[in-house]
Amino acid sequence: MNISNHNQQEAHLNEVYPTLPFKPIAGRGLYLETAEGRHILDLYGGHAVATLGYGHPKLSSAIAEQAERLFFQSNAVRLDIRDEAANSLAAFAPEPLSRVFFVNSGAEANENALRIALKSTGRKKIIAVEHSFHGRTAGAAAVTWGAKESWYGFPYDPFEVAFVPRNDVNALNTMVDRDSAALIIEPVQGVAGAFNFEPEFLNAARTACDNSGALLILDEVQTGVGRLGAPFGADLYGLSADILTTAKALGGGFPCGAVLMRHELAKDLGPGDLGTTFGGGPLACAVIKTIIETILNDNLLQSVQKISTRICEICIRGPVIAVQGAGLLLGLKTKPKAALVRDALLARNILAGTSADPHVLRLLPPLTMGEKHVDCLAEALEEMSNENF
Ligand SMILES: Cc1ncc(COP(=O)(O)O)c(C=O)c1O
Repeated sequence: MNISNHNQQEAHLNEVYPTLPFKPIAGRGLYLETAEGRHILDLYGGHAVATLGYGHPKLSSAIAEQAERLFFQSNAVRLDIRDEAANSLAAFAPEPLSRVFFVNSGAEANENALRIALKSTGRKKIIAVEHSFHGRTAGAAAVTWGAKESWYGFPYDPFEVAFVPRNDVNALNTMVDRDSAALIIEPVQGVAGAFNFEPEFLNAARTACDNSGALLILDEVQTGVGRLGAPFGADLYGLSADILTTAKALGGGFPCGAVLMRHELAKDLGPGDLGTTFGGGPLACAVIKTIIETILNDNLLQSVQKISTRICEICIRGPVIAVQGAGLLLGLKTKPKAALVRDALLARNILAGTSADPHVLRLLPPLTMGEKHVDCLAEALEEMSNENF
């Protein structure tokens, strides 16, 4: 049997993903290449992951050098590279979040954040927000809107959960009470379609937590690490979190995640309280350090702000009627179904994503996106003006 035979491989993979009709074999900058010679402008970044695009020399050499030096060691031993990554992440993150626990994914980061909140408050209830997405593991799915009706919902939640309607300050003030361990919220709801909250709602989130003794968990798995044109959504919206989770852009494609927390929470955690085999491995840590260094050295936060403004200025055309979101987590509101616009863009070699909102097309490009890429998108949308969707 030829195990490299492509059809054989397809026969063995579980077919659980609706896949796009192209197969990349390489990537360079913002472009994916196919065997047929197509060059596809990737404005989706593998679900907000490809922070520095593809083939970034600093990332490749950081991985190669670390792999050569020490490929893996667990948290059973202290590693300089792990301390360096934690220091640079804590310095990059907003002030009170001085302690870091490294994990492997967004869901795992949220799972740990929820556990810390429940244990440290001794309470049993978590408040989440309608239409949120926090992941597919038991705890993360329990606070994900609609998970119960989906395949990854479990028959019982591991703790009590209540969902606040979006932007309903009164409901927030009533529901976040003295039985609530935490309120978990994305600063901009990603999967929901780059949905922005009203500033009053985000401010009320902090106040409601202060008044009730609940913790504020910011899920920055999608919004974090420069995506919004600030280190985190917490910086952009002036929100002080007790716990912040992040993943996706943190590793630029290398699987990793992190839970950041206030020192007061961390000091109650001792050896054996949290754990992971792979989290905080040397390769992940070398990548995290390099991603943060590159964002800062190449002024990518300023660039994200500039490119975001340009998209809002010139891409409301053709099928696009409005833009929502922030930085490079943008939702293009489309008159026709977003999936049809996604297909029409892909036919022109531009990749964008859909969202839970059938009329919102999501852009989650690498933070290295430039003006010429925005112009490509604007031209393609203009060309679609007369398209019959
Ligand atoms: C806001 C948010 N939280 C958590 C997750 C889950 O992350 P992961 O798929 O890495 O487990 C996602 C993934 O899309 C997300 O967007």
